[in-house]
Formats: sequence, structure tokens, C-alpha cells
Amino acid sequence: MGPGLDFVDLPSLSAAVHQCRKCPLGHSRTRAVPGVGPSDARIMIVGEAPGQNEDLQGEPFVGAAGKLLDQLLRGIGLSRGDVFITNILKCRPPANRDPQPAEAEACSPYLEQQLRLIKPEVVLVLGRHALARLLPGYESISRLHGKVVVKDGVSYIPVYHPAAALYNSFLMGPLEQDFKAVKTHLDRVEERRQVAAALATPVTKPEEQLTLFG
Ligand code: SF4
Ligand code: URA
Repeated sequence: MGPGLDFVDLPSLSAAVHQCRKCPLGHSRTRAVPGVGPSDARIMIVGEAPGQNEDLQGEPFVGAAGKLLDQLLRGIGLSRGDVFITNILKCRPPANRDPQPAEAEACSPYLEQQLRLIKPEVVLVLGRHALARLLPGYESISRLHGKVVVKDGVSYIPVYHPAAALYNSFLMGPLEQDFKAVKTHLDRVEERRQVAAALATPVTKPEEQLTLFG
């Protein structure tokens, strides 16, 4: 993204996405799908690209894969309102074909800016296309799924894509395991936060108590 195109907040970023024609998908889409969720979300979920339902509604993960994602989130005590959900591509590729490298490249500044504005602690990387984009040069999804990769202070957890598990039922078990790994990581983060908070609580020293009350 060129100079001066740093977005001040998510609404201005979304507005730019709705106007965007930086790749041909901007001309074939029905609606752009910038992403949804709170601007202070601690967890961000990054999928591949909008499908037909998403293209019609302007929201990510509202079709069958989205239902499964909701179910997986519920299974680890999270709801949609807790997370920011978006995709590598903000516009639907015709007939849901794979994202082309030039499209992913053209669209990547929006995702980078979303990461910068939201500053999530944990990023769930859904499937191989998101993995290739967010963790380039790392191992494949089949090797990396369910593992935590720390990069620039952010924990990335690649998981199988829910749509892949709907298509290949043998991936359903591994996908559920991946979400258990996500829960384990989130619990560990929460534990560390509580320890840090306890350590940061000021404790009145005995000599101060003496001067105050003695
Ligand atoms: Fe712009 Fe991304 Fe849509 Fe292409 S896919 S038109 S780069 S928002
Ligand atoms: N699959 C994705 O990767 N993203 C969506 O938003 C919907 C389905």
C-alpha cells in the first residue's frame, strides 16, 4: 500500500475495500467482504476468500463452512462476537476457484492493516492459502496444523480449513483436534495474563504501613 494509505480505523478500511478495484475480482464480485468483529478482538481468524453466500451477504463465513466454524468456536467456549473474522481475499473468485497469486498480492495490504489495527494475540490460519500468505516459507498445512508459530510477537495457529473438512470427512477429526490445541493455547495465554496481573498489583510494604499508621 502506498504512502498515505494507512487506515486510521477499521470502518475506513472497510469503506476502501468496498470501493476497491485493485484486481479483477473487484469487477466480478456482488459485494466485497472486508471482515467482521470487534476492533479489539484478541483472536483473529483468517480464511481464504468469500464464497457465494458471503459474496451475496457481504459477511465472511455465513455458509456451510461458517456453520462448522461457529460450531468449532462454540466447542472451545467462543462465539463469533469474540473474534474478528476475515479472509485473504476480500472479493469472491468466480466459481470459488483458488486465489491467484496476483490477487492475493493486490489484496494483502488490507489484511496487513487489519493485523496492525486489531493487534490480535492469536491468529487462526484457516487452510493452506491463508497459511501460504501469512507464514510464507513455513511448512505445509498437513505438517503445521494445530501447532503454534510465533512471528513478530503474534501467535499464529494454522488449522485445517472447515470447508476442506466438509469435503474430506477424514479431516474432521484432525480439525477438531486443532481447535482443542487452540483452546489449550488460549488457556495458557489467560493463565499467563492472570499471573502477570497478580505480579503487577502493588503490595504495600511493611515500612510504608508503619509511616502511614505508626
Ligand atoms: Fe481489491 Fe482485494 Fe477485492 Fe481485489 S480482492 S478488488 S484487491 S478488495
Ligand atoms: N471460506 C472461506 O475461506 N471464507 C469464507 O468467508 C467462506 C468460506
